[in-house]
Amino acid sequence: MIFHNKLIYWYLQKNRDLPWRKTQNPYHVWLSEIMLQQTRVAQGLPYFLKFTEAFPTVFDLAKATEERVLKLWQGLGYYSRARNLHFTAKYIANELNGEFPNNYKELLKLKGVGDYTASAIASICFNEPAAVVDGNVYRVLSRYFGIKAPINSSKGIREFKELAQTLINVEQPGVYNQAIMDFGALHCKPQNPLCKDCVLSNSCVALEKGLVKELPVKEKK
Ligand code: ADE
Repeated sequence: MIFHNKLIYWYLQKNRDLPWRKTQNPYHVWLSEIMLQQTRVAQGLPYFLKFTEAFPTVFDLAKATEERVLKLWQGLGYYSRARNLHFTAKYIANELNGEFPNNYKELLKLKGVGDYTASAIASICFNEPAAVVDGNVYRVLSRYFGIKAPINSSKGIREFKELAQTLINVEQPGVYNQAIMDFGALHCKPQNPLCKDCVLSNSCVALEKGLVKELPVKEKK
């Protein structure tokens, strides 16, 4: 089985039941992806539920006062995310008639939306084969392919991004992206990865060479 299908196979069995996975509504997916930047799923989940209840549409979020948005965000940290979120909601509601951009390139122009978030939304909502690369993806790819390029060097970042883009499942890019992120978070974990029972173990370079603990490599700055 090819790499992406092994991950999707794993994902379909272990899939976490998360509310933003039940929808391709870009407003909901955008909210969830902004909240999950630098934040674990368990921590972000209650905020996602709170926000979608308080602001069911992007128009509701746009109409809210910044004070209310920041109040609801309290405890999640990185408050610039909340300010950008509010700014972008107003932009989408007022300038784009509430319609989210429907592709990676246009999504990237939104304030607070970087490469990772634009890829996540484009793939999940619009089936665009744009590969996400987050900490989980670095770990899975560096171990499976035995890549020692530091994940915090510009060369490493480029190499991983290019590789990730070649691996994506073009039929189900959103499913694939969420599969590899979940696989990194739940299975190919930083500590105590579950190598004994792993869909990738028969061709994992790190496992074969005893490098699981060494990878991924981070350069000291
Ligand atoms: N981390 C951030 N977004 C995620 C998603 N959609 N699935 C799994 N992990 C994530």
